[in-house]
Amino acid sequence: MAYTVPKLKDFSTSTLTMAFVDLKSAFQTETALPNSEAEWKQFRDRWLARKNGILTQINGLWLKAAPKEAKSEVGKLVNDVKRFVEQEFAKDRDWAIAASSLAQTFQRIDISLPGICRPIGAEHPVLRASREMCAVFQRMGYSIAEGPVVETDYYNFEALNFPPNHPARDTQDTLFIAGQQSKPQRERLLLRTHTSPVQIRTMEKLPPPIRIVIPGVVHRNDPPDASHSPMFHQIEGLAVDTNITFGDLKGTLDHAMKEFFGSSVKTSFRPSFFPFTEPSAELYISCFICGGSGRRGSDPCRPCKQTGWIEALGCGMVDPNVFEFVKDNGYDPKKVSGFAFGMGVDRVALLKYGVDDLQLFFQGDVRFLQQWA
Ligand code: PHE
Repeated sequence: MAYTVPKLKDFSTSTLTMAFVDLKSAFQTETALPNSEAEWKQFRDRWLARKNGILTQINGLWLKAAPKEAKSEVGKLVNDVKRFVEQEFAKDRDWAIAASSLAQTFQRIDISLPGICRPIGAEHPVLRASREMCAVFQRMGYSIAEGPVVETDYYNFEALNFPPNHPARDTQDTLFIAGQQSKPQRERLLLRTHTSPVQIRTMEKLPPPIRIVIPGVVHRNDPPDASHSPMFHQIEGLAVDTNITFGDLKGTLDHAMKEFFGSSVKTSFRPSFFPFTEPSAELYISCFICGGSGRRGSDPCRPCKQTGWIEALGCGMVDPNVFEFVKDNGYDPKKVSGFAFGMGVDRVALLKYGVDDLQLFFQGDVRFLQQWA
């Protein structure tokens, strides 16, 4: 029942207090009733309207009707009532404003539309080739291993069977860290020229058997051109167990090349030399661009230099001298054998994606890179 302002039968303190209590509870009940903005406005006017609103009525029925001696107490009460009602409306109004502005916001936003997509970039083609090549070996049970780019002479050379002053070191075009002369040679720092030092680092930590692939950045003092860069990427592989043979090496790499470049690719192993493998080989794959013919229509095939074969990587059986450096961790060269390989990822990416200039990979031109997005 809607509240009506009662006439007071007397103006005693207890009557006034009761009247205030009744009004408050009536107000609390009514304040919960409005269901729309229109109903809420009606409710507000019923209480606040100057003409005949409840507060106005209270002024007439309570204050004006009070006898002189009660005027000051009734006046205080009427002020309390006004303050109470006005405060309650202030709360309500804040709430109503918030609710209506929320409603307006929702009318402007179509929450069924997809959100704003933030551009997250694309994987760099070299890293993509690296990841895909590692994945080929991971599917054969290999794990990933990594090591530092700033390396010691010991891991980059000595433990890989490059003795101090051995001429094979010259082939690596090493970039040395300055100011290392006061250290013993094996502790001097350099930028690793290949990922092979991680072979030793991993064998120091894990006893055989192991099967690992090692992706990473390497540096050599090569001036940049269409096929060279002072910074490039390699993937190293190492498998050590009892009875690993050159046949395992051939079968593993033949499978990997077919997985990565396509099943029609053929492989050819040609003798080579690396200090840390014996025997050593270079693996060639048949040119998947010209199909091995050396020609593209009437033009010569450039990627294989018209030979029909492309050099893919270096490999070989781990030299027993290398195992001597990690013998204490179970790598007795009389008991274990293994194979290793190392390939240039940038080269492999050039071939796979048909890019003709290595420098494009490192210039950061978005028009080039977004082709892999
Ligand atoms: N580390 C050699 C290089 O960078 C490649 C290689 C790795 C060869 C493992 C044989 C075995 O040229």
